[in-house]
Amino acid sequence: MTLHNQTAIITGAGKGIGKATAIALAKEGVNLGLVARSRADLESLQQELSSTYGIKVSIATADISNRAEAGRAVETLIKELGALDILLNNAGTAQFGKLVEMDPDQWEQIIQTNLMGTYYVTRAALPTMISQNGGSIINIASTAGERGFATGSAYCASKFAVIGMTEALMQEVRKSNIRVTALTPSTVNTELAAKAGLPIGDEDRMMQAEDVAELILAALKLPQRVFLKTAGIWTTNPQ
Ligand SMILES: NC(=O)c1ccc[n+]([C@@H]2O[C@H](COP(=O)([O-])OP(=O)(O)OC[C@H]3O[C@@H](n4cnc5c(N)ncnc54)[C@H](OP(=O)(O)O)[C@@H]3O)[C@@H](O)[C@H]2O)c1
Repeated sequence: MTLHNQTAIITGAGKGIGKATAIALAKEGVNLGLVARSRADLESLQQELSSTYGIKVSIATADISNRAEAGRAVETLIKELGALDILLNNAGTAQFGKLVEMDPDQWEQIIQTNLMGTYYVTRAALPTMISQNGGSIINIASTAGERGFATGSAYCASKFAVIGMTEALMQEVRKSNIRVTALTPSTVNTELAAKAGLPIGDEDRMMQAEDVAELILAALKLPQRVFLKTAGIWTTNPQ
């Protein structure tokens, strides 16, 4: 299935997996709506992608953990781009610590961003897809959404919840030809992994953001009658 001339919104598009996917989709001729909090990241990507690939790129700064900001960003982008076929819920945050030691504000912020942010953005985007009877939503979960580990209570809870929400929504909207997928990467070599102190191991063999983008493209290119429900992607690098 060709993606040419489709329109995608990507949250967390300024860095890491979101940025790599924006570049991969731009190469396919997909028009883009990019969301993150840092305007500078979005502006430089907008400039690079629109001039290199001749696609439409709109940007909206928003903290997706804020319901009003998330809603406004999606609304603005759909208006500017005039369409929405693909939503990549990718923006996320990771911090690790023992449950009793972690600052409750931090714990809440992880849930607020990874779960509530994904919900706010999806809620704002879904009516457009329902009214056009089609679309694809990809939620970036994590292996941390499939199994818990010490110090991961907030992050694991947020990602388990994203997988639950994905499965429920998938059942709700598949009759409207809307495909909802959760991807569960293990550690990817990004700023998030470095800041959270995740083990990177041998950097040359580490999974890269571009590798996850490849999987996202493959999922989007499946024939419209099928979709990937969940898919794990692991680094071959033994950590
Ligand atoms: N890296 C890994 O090992 C790994 C593994 C499995 C799953 N994941 C998941 O993959 C996703 C992307 O992670 P990444 O590694 O690519 O992270 P990253 O390199 O840190 O990039 C995260 C992006 O999300 C944006 N963002 C963060 N919080 C936001 C908020 N509240 N509102 C709007 N934008 C926000 C950041 O920009 P601003 O700071 O400018 O807002 C940035 O553009 C996350 O959901 C993460 O949990 C990552």
